[in-house]
Amino acid sequence: ETDAFLAAFQARIDAEEKIEPNDPMPEGYRRTLVRQIGQHAHSEIVGMLPEGNWVTRAPSLRRKVALLAKVQDEGGHGLYLYAAAETLGVSREEMTEQLLDGRAKYSSIFNYPTQTWADIGAIGWLVDGAAIMNQIPLCRCSYGPYARAMIRVCKEESFHQRQGYEIMMTLAQGTEDQREMAQDALNRWWWPSLMMFGPSDKDSVNSDQSMKWKIKRFTNDELRQKFIDATVPQAEKIGLTVPDPDLTWNEAKGGYDHGPIDWSEFKRVLKGEGPMNRDRIRARQKAWDDGAWVREAARAHAAKRQPAALA
Ligand code: ACO
Repeated sequence: ETDAFLAAFQARIDAEEKIEPNDPMPEGYRRTLVRQIGQHAHSEIVGMLPEGNWVTRAPSLRRKVALLAKVQDEGGHGLYLYAAAETLGVSREEMTEQLLDGRAKYSSIFNYPTQTWADIGAIGWLVDGAAIMNQIPLCRCSYGPYARAMIRVCKEESFHQRQGYEIMMTLAQGTEDQREMAQDALNRWWWPSLMMFGPSDKDSVNSDQSMKWKIKRFTNDELRQKFIDATVPQAEKIGLTVPDPDLTWNEAKGGYDHGPIDWSEFKRVLKGEGPMNRDRIRARQKAWDDGAWVREAARAHAAKRQPAALA
């Protein structure tokens, strides 16, 4: 890749042009997108597991319908994202193999268990809330197919966030046990939700280049700050307490100061040692193995049709 090629590509990025699948692009740009979109797709699919765990135990028909719709949406998001990554020349099969053998990551947040019904509220409110904060800027990502996929995904995520917050609001106004259940879920999901935004800027190896290429529009810490500033008043409004004794409003910066994040926990989860990592991969492996006959049948069908297509 010559300097002139890289400069011409950067000039397109700087002019806010969208890069499309058949456009020339630096190999690093392609690799970064495959990594990020692939990780994002895997997160959507693995993210169906903790919530799917409560579909049969939702407390009412109305809650069950909303939860089912949400879990299906996540599956749909995964599919758009795999399709977006495929425009970069990687197959869904390859991406799935990378997930199963540990080469590709998925979001740390989905390695925590859903212990009570309030966890479904907390996930919608906090996890989908954090996902929206991260994904709204991705609607302006320089890579066209990823940016366009994000527009619809964000609309659906915003419904997810509201259904989660509404569950929390209902529990917080309920009996003392229900209020405690909501507070306990907030206590367990708060810090992992902050970790979703990725390592702090000084430890984020990919941010500088991704910002230059306008794949990312904000740094990890910037988005984390926006999320905290938006979410703390929502907790206050329903009478719940964010589990951070150091949380204080900082008038000068117009945002909250927060206590230290336990990055050793984040690293453990990324290494595969979170509470649910093994279960999540086992479930995905089983789904992949159980689907082998479908892939084989599709291949056999395609092979049978080929001579006719050529004739
Ligand atoms: N969970 C797992 N891995 C993470 C997380 C996380 N929460 N945050 C960062 N990482 C990984 C990165 O993938 C990178 O590893 P890699 O180089 O092996 O891929 C490493 O930690 C260092 O992080 P960064 O240099 O900051 O990586 P990056 O610039 O890719 O930023 C981020 C990370 C913010 C997650 C970015 O990839 C992104 O915006 N992705 C799209 C959104 C997404 O994946 N959301 C998934 C959850 S939302 C949902 O599914 C509902």
